[in-house]
Amino acid sequence: MKTSLGPKPIVFPMPAFLVATYDENGRPNVMTAAWGGIASSDPPCVSVSVRPSRWTHGAILKNKAFSVNCPSSALAVAVDYVGLVSGRDFDKFKIAGLTAVRSDLVEAPYVAECPVTLECALRSQVDLGAHTMFVGQIVDVKADTRTISLSAEPDPVAIDPLIFASGAYHQLGQALGRAFSIGLSLKKNEPQQDRT
Ligand SMILES: Cc1cc2nc3c(=O)[nH]c(=O)nc-3n(C[C@H](O)[C@H](O)[C@H](O)COP(=O)(O)O)c2cc1C
Repeated sequence: MKTSLGPKPIVFPMPAFLVATYDENGRPNVMTAAWGGIASSDPPCVSVSVRPSRWTHGAILKNKAFSVNCPSSALAVAVDYVGLVSGRDFDKFKIAGLTAVRSDLVEAPYVAECPVTLECALRSQVDLGAHTMFVGQIVDVKADTRTISLSAEPDPVAIDPLIFASGAYHQLGQALGRAFSIGLSLKKNEPQQDRT
């Protein structure tokens, strides 16, 4: 049995991204965003939804760029802090002990301490009401070499991503099997096709 929770913006899990920008004074700023995710593969795009009241909102519009940084669980306190106060008032990079690195590709800094970073050029924006959904075209992904496996894929265990769900931070659970693979075991249940 299921119970109705009404129309709410919840899915499980959510990311806890760090969105980094240069503000209107050219200073690096960073904010937490749980409302976002991969939007397209070709071209590779990611979306983040940001309230117009955020300092980050104006910075994205001004520079037409932002970075999406995937923090590890060790950064939970810093991630929460930069989601609590505004870059209008404080140098959040400094207070949270984070390092802003200048991108060679877009007018936005990225966060050195995050194992995976997406450098994004603003591609489109959709005003949805409370939030503006910014779609960024990913011009490069920077990954910490310690998190790259032999197959050259980022290793989720090494990344140890911070996960946000129901108002709390979590860590990744155990791997259950390869994608595009374990589902094949159900093909035996497909109706047999008459090939005569
Ligand atoms: C876990 C978490 C998730 C958040 N997700 C979002 C989000 O997706 N969009 C948004 O506009 N604000 C979100 N916030 C709030 C902003 O991060 C917060 O208002 C921040 O102070 C804005 O910083 P800025 O004014 O420097 O841009 C989140 C905060 C936390 C703690």
